[in-house]
Amino acid sequence: MSKIGFNAALALQAALVTEKAAIAATALVGRGDEKAADQAAVDAMRKALNNMDIRGRIVIGEGERDEAPMLYIGEEVGKGKGPEIDIALDPLEGTTLTAKAMANALAVMAFAPKGGLLYAPDTYMDKIACGPGYPAGILDIDASAADNVKKLAKAKGVKPNQITVCVLDRARHGKIIDSLRDIDAAVSLITDGDVQGVIATTDPDTQIDMYVGSGGAPEGVLAAAALRCIGGQMLGRLTFRNDDEVSRARRVGIDNLDTIYDLKGLASGPTIFSATGVTQGSLLDGVKFIGDKVHSHTLIMNSVDGSVQKLRSVRPVA
Ligand code: FBP
Repeated sequence: MSKIGFNAALALQAALVTEKAAIAATALVGRGDEKAADQAAVDAMRKALNNMDIRGRIVIGEGERDEAPMLYIGEEVGKGKGPEIDIALDPLEGTTLTAKAMANALAVMAFAPKGGLLYAPDTYMDKIACGPGYPAGILDIDASAADNVKKLAKAKGVKPNQITVCVLDRARHGKIIDSLRDIDAAVSLITDGDVQGVIATTDPDTQIDMYVGSGGAPEGVLAAAALRCIGGQMLGRLTFRNDDEVSRARRVGIDNLDTIYDLKGLASGPTIFSATGVTQGSLLDGVKFIGDKVHSHTLIMNSVDGSVQKLRSVRPVA
């Protein structure tokens, strides 16, 4: 797969795109209006993408064409010249977090050459992930959360009760949480935002060792794109609640509905990942307006040169 164009300049441009989306969503932080916050981020992200010298195609977006007028799956963005890029995006990952002014809302996007990202349907995905430094293949999506923790603990040289696992706080995760409590592992419950939850496993400062549970499949691909750049392991398997969700998978070309995707299956080849904090978070600071300036904090990673950067930018308020 071609690496042409996947350079530091493209990564910086990607950072600008998530920055614009995050700044736009900030006006809606704490206003109780998830839709308006999402729309502000979508508008800003789309405008920024259309300013880029790329031939971009949205492969993970706001939804299918008939339900999302902007940044829908298959929409072409960019000026129509430059590298051909598949784009996965979530202009506002954590709409509820934003509406309620809670921590860890992000604007997120990943670039890959054509075919480099799984064309995941808008369904749920069972996910399990850990950070870098463990033996390959240590995770088992069919084993219990407790068994996975025991293996991680052994590899890390600690007891299972010294492992912390991030889980979305949902009733459907009751069994997972019970299994973790049985071995006295620490469970870090999040109300939303599992892209951040997965990335947290790569950042020793967060003390999160593993992520497990089901969440959005699109978010699964975005999280995998991040791990593709920074290292770590992840497995994902689509889950379907009804025939409509199965049809969604078929429409994006998925025939084997039971496939277990590893990191390569979710995001292969050169990848650029960018996330900007909207609200204050454990990974990134949120956007702040101070005087006539706007401050933002962006994580930008490129699998091609192995770079992981956190950028702070200060710009005049537009
Ligand atoms: P939104 O930003 O689209 O609201 O998604 C937030 C999120 O928490 C994701 O991070 C996660 O994958 C998904 O929702 C979980 O879905 P559900 O809320 O239905 O359990």
